[in-house]
Amino acid sequence: MEHININIQWASHKLPLSQVEALTSEVLAAREHLLSGDAPGSDFLGWINLPEAITPEVIAGICAEAARLRSKGRVIVVVGIGGSYLGARMVIEALQSAYPSADLPRVVYAGHTLSEDYYAQLLGFLDREDYSVVVISKSGTTTEPAVAFRLLKSHLEKKYGQAEASSRIVAITDAHRGALHNIALQEGYPTYAIPDDVGGRFSVLTPVGLLPIAAAGYDIERLIAGASDMRRLCLEANTLDSNPALMYAAVRNALYRSGIKVEMLTVCQPNLRYVAEWWKQLYGESEGKEGKGLLPHSISITTDLHSMGQYVQEGERLLMETMIRVARPTATVAVPSDGVNLDGLNYLAGRRLTAINDCAAEGTAEAHAAGGVPVVEIGMEAINEYSLGQLIYFFEFACGVSGYTLGVNPFNQPGVEAYKKNMFRLLGKPGC
Ligand code: PA5
Repeated sequence: MEHININIQWASHKLPLSQVEALTSEVLAAREHLLSGDAPGSDFLGWINLPEAITPEVIAGICAEAARLRSKGRVIVVVGIGGSYLGARMVIEALQSAYPSADLPRVVYAGHTLSEDYYAQLLGFLDREDYSVVVISKSGTTTEPAVAFRLLKSHLEKKYGQAEASSRIVAITDAHRGALHNIALQEGYPTYAIPDDVGGRFSVLTPVGLLPIAAAGYDIERLIAGASDMRRLCLEANTLDSNPALMYAAVRNALYRSGIKVEMLTVCQPNLRYVAEWWKQLYGESEGKEGKGLLPHSISITTDLHSMGQYVQEGERLLMETMIRVARPTATVAVPSDGVNLDGLNYLAGRRLTAINDCAAEGTAEAHAAGGVPVVEIGMEAINEYSLGQLIYFFEFACGVSGYTLGVNPFNQPGVEAYKKNMFRLLGKPGC
């Protein structure tokens, strides 16, 4: 199997390789901080070993729980926000059909919004469906998922009665504390613990991501196998050329130091949209602090070439672009030939859509580079569990290295508290 690879040819006009290589010693020192745990945030490095640490018994237990939930009805509501839902959603949306058949499990989301209209619609939908709930919160006290869970618990209890409702709820939370931990204990819900040393945005390879992904019907063993192979590479290879995560961390830091302010992640197919959402959280929360850090932004092509494309090509020159390229499509769709050829498309007849999309992506990278936007290409083999596992570990490892190279603690998020303080004051929360 191919590993994730990185190509910086379309960045080299803005950033000579020598400038990237000048960061080698800093990037290697950052990698060393990750591996030795001697820098701020070292209490949250448990993610590094997750793919190796998880046992076949734990995986089997998660798969059995997923099957039990599926047997309760086709709909599974995943309740969580930020790192407690984006990882699962990224993998599920990448793998599922845009038009799933009605008999397949359907994962829907709650706890990521406080929109009243959204919950009215969700509860209306759940009136008509048999469903179960996976509620995820590491702290167990986050307002958005707590409010959503209260709504869903009450809806489940009205619909099925107390005992059956409890059998339709699984909690994933801190092993010892928090309101969700206490509710789960009191109500006897099956519970999975989130390791103390794994922060939310690095938790997709714990039950936080694995249970919803397995419940949606996907192969978590392959996901972990991909992450594990990428872990081996990240831990063993210690040059920029041999380790794509080190190269990525070096390039984005070198570009940041050269004055670039925004990193735009470009995905070339709509089902990778949530990869971009997960990536934005990972890098935004890890690096955006102390007045520093690239602003993570994203587009999907070719869709957004007809909206944001103009700005990227000719707007203010503050951008770098990281483009995820997928080598192999999953399905086959080719352009049919047309005897009349009124649309003039016969020059494409017989060509697969992927070949056309690849030309669009290649042409975009070349055009953006010519327009002054350095482009870094991240190559993955295919959209499947194994490659997604690799991609997850690649971005996580690169994020740790990049954050330390930037000079911040990549594993805290002190800024997230500011809005909560104000919201609690406005809501009149007791004690605030
Ligand atoms: O990465 C993080 O730590 C955050 O995005 C959290 O995942 C998010 O705030 C949700 O927190 P919790 O799981 O405690 O509800």
